[in-house]
Amino acid sequence: MLPPSRRVFSRLLLAGSGLAALSACSTEAARPTSSAAGSPSAATSSSSATPSVTASAAPSAAPVPVSPAATAPGTTPPPAPSAAAAPRHSLTDPASPWVVVNKHRPLSPAAYVPADLVQPSVRLAVSGEAALLNSTTAAAAEKMFAAAAAAGVVITLASGYRSFNSQIATYNRWVQAEGQAAADTASARPGYSEHQTGWSFDIGDGSGRDSFTPAFANQPAAVWAKANAHLFGFVVRYPWMFHTITGYYYEPWHLRYVGVDAAGEMKTKGIATLEEYFGLEAAPTYL
Ligand code: DAL
Ligand code: ZN
Repeated sequence: MLPPSRRVFSRLLLAGSGLAALSACSTEAARPTSSAAGSPSAATSSSSATPSVTASAAPSAAPVPVSPAATAPGTTPPPAPSAAAAPRHSLTDPASPWVVVNKHRPLSPAAYVPADLVQPSVRLAVSGEAALLNSTTAAAAEKMFAAAAAAGVVITLASGYRSFNSQIATYNRWVQAEGQAAADTASARPGYSEHQTGWSFDIGDGSGRDSFTPAFANQPAAVWAKANAHLFGFVVRYPWMFHTITGYYYEPWHLRYVGVDAAGEMKTKGIATLEEYFGLEAAPTYL
């Protein structure tokens, strides 16, 4: 008998073909977890008989202050923050490259739209809204994709900006396909997604193989990005086995721009998550 987390993972893998119809950051299947680590708790505080959200849904929780750092019950305390003492950018302003969005820190305003959305000159696997990024992220992405190409690795932009309304549709498809508990380990609720900031995007491989599945971690695009993304200011936002801090299973395709200094420091010091880097509380579930 598999532990619950394994059962969920196996079920998601089996459901992979069905999930392919879901859009980016919605097709992602949960990674397996060790029984010791367990799985993220299903968010239940706002669940209802109809576990979907509508355009009128708005985050109820206020952003958590930058400090003091706190630790959610049952989670490992983050290491001493390296940047929290003197943040050089806002951790709450969605226009800031250091904004931290997670299950405890919704976007404010909830319907935030970046003022400088542009389409980067990179290989696109999507069109329309999803091909957009904020201008800083777009410029960094162009450099990174070009560097990867020079190294013989094709990276595609698989999903970029996602509006509040698009996130409603994405999240609801997840809930309908997998139920709310599983959805909450893979897809952010509207107003809680980094994709809405324009600072994040999902990558694909030139082959399109294993997109938004755990196996994508072994594709050249993911391997290259994991090793080199920091040089261009990006981090893999939802690393392997840090779901008790980030609230989401491993997403080797989801990159987040934080700038070369922060990304480089995280890489050098082996700090895996933004929560730990900034000394913020873990956010495994919604408040
Ligand atoms: N998949 C990430 C958590 C999102 O939906 O933003
Ligand atoms: Zn993503």
